[in-house]
Amino acid sequence: MKPVKVGLLGLGTVGGGTVNVLRRNAEEITRRAGRGIVISHAAARSLDKPRLCDTTGIRLTTDPNEVVDDPGVDVVVELIGGYDLARELVLRAIANGKHVVTANKALIAKYGNEIFAAASRQGVVVAFEAAVAGGIPIIKAIREGLAGNRIEWLAGIINGTGNFILTEMRDKGREFADVLAEAQRFGYAEADPTFDVEGIDAAHKLTILASIAFGIPLQFEHAYTEGITRITPTDVTYAEQLGYRIKHLGMARRVESGIELRVHPTLIPERRLIANVDGVMNAVLVQGDAVGPTLYYGAGAGAEATASAVVADLVDVVRVLTTDPNNRVPHLAFQADALSDLPI
Ligand code: HSE
Repeated sequence: MKPVKVGLLGLGTVGGGTVNVLRRNAEEITRRAGRGIVISHAAARSLDKPRLCDTTGIRLTTDPNEVVDDPGVDVVVELIGGYDLARELVLRAIANGKHVVTANKALIAKYGNEIFAAASRQGVVVAFEAAVAGGIPIIKAIREGLAGNRIEWLAGIINGTGNFILTEMRDKGREFADVLAEAQRFGYAEADPTFDVEGIDAAHKLTILASIAFGIPLQFEHAYTEGITRITPTDVTYAEQLGYRIKHLGMARRVESGIELRVHPTLIPERRLIANVDGVMNAVLVQGDAVGPTLYYGAGAGAEATASAVVADLVDVVRVLTTDPNNRVPHLAFQADALSDLPI
């Protein structure tokens, strides 16, 4: 069977990681997907920049529309981030009948309702595992592994950059700005790092998790959002002396009026597992009525950790292309029409 052709939008940190993981693990990936997966076409902002990956055999362009309009491309992987251009390109890819894999939490949190409705009309899949908690398969865990549960609450460290900053401030007494600059060099931070440190990135991710866990529409604007910019080294030291760690958490839980979404720094007793999640690592606790508490841990940002989730979604999409003659996968597509209208 011919390999599935992927068009990549964005050849930065995660784009480069995706190319490398797909190539290095081609044999396992082909066996699991039932077909090979090749990146045939990619768009990047500049073609002169040094890359994290070898682009031999990939047709490169600076025009992303060329990729989404390419009739040879079966699946579009959107890794450019941000709101408006990403929305335009993803909707165009869907209109062209292409499946989409995205790591863009801002896009899904803000425009997901519109995008999933369009995908559902076109009978294509939009998969977004990489949008939340980097390499942790938390979307699949909630949607598939916990499908038999009524989710009572979830809470987690879902911004790697923020957790890295808080950890370095505590362990090495480093300055906030200095650690943030390092997170940017490592490729952990968003293009606009205020999204990381003001809690916006975590609020995007929490919105997505809550939507899946509680079956509610994506309502990013209703999340209470506070970042870590007001945390000082003195706060971190005092917390430590009192036996606590400061962790930036996203939390969603049922309350009388609906579902409450909150993102803010919290004091956690140091003996708790989540208090010991350090550096760029993320962890998400999910409480189901049948299973009880469950905990998911792993790298929340970085090239190959995020690529791991992108490739997992590609494998899912390819399995569907291979086995379903109509290319429809209700279990992957977000069922916008099945959502209840609970107020958040
Ligand atoms: N800037 C994000 C973070 C990247 O630090 O968690 C992964 O979503």
